[in-house]
Amino acid sequence: MKQDIINREDIILLVDTFYEKVKSNAILGYIFDDIAKINWSTHLPKMYSFWASLLIDEHSYTGNPMKIHVDLKNIAPMREIEFEEWIIVFNQTIDELFEGDTAEFAKARAENIARIMLNKINASY
Ligand code: HEM
Repeated sequence: MKQDIINREDIILLVDTFYEKVKSNAILGYIFDDIAKINWSTHLPKMYSFWASLLIDEHSYTGNPMKIHVDLKNIAPMREIEFEEWIIVFNQTIDELFEGDTAEFAKARAENIARIMLNKINASY
């Protein structure tokens, strides 16, 4: 049986597995690598902190993801289709690796944040 998300090791596995899928995803991969030209060695630790703060009470993330994604829409397509794909890949990653209340909470939080981001992006044109 799969385990729930309980510690930082789980968060690191979740984030690493998710972005491995994103990199090779036809809809999302080029946004990270070709448009935003992400530095993965700084992005991944940021994402560990983000998800650890939301899921395991670590409180280590400081940042403004809403502003960052609203700004991203100036250089990359940030539409419903991209957000839907992001959620599909995120949910697949969670379901592949984990099972439990925190795993379900992670999917619900991600969907909620994605919806708010897309609304803010659409309102900013
Ligand atoms: C269409 C979907 C999405 C795309 C293409 C996308 C792309 C990106 C990119 C390119 C960055 C790096 C920006 C930079 O460093 O300049 C970034 C950062 C980030 N993204 Fe997303 N993202 C998406 C959805 C989401 C969602 C739904 C969440 C949360 C559930 C999220 C959370 C974050 C966070 C926390 C950061 C780091 C912000 C910081 O630097 O503090 N993203 N994203």
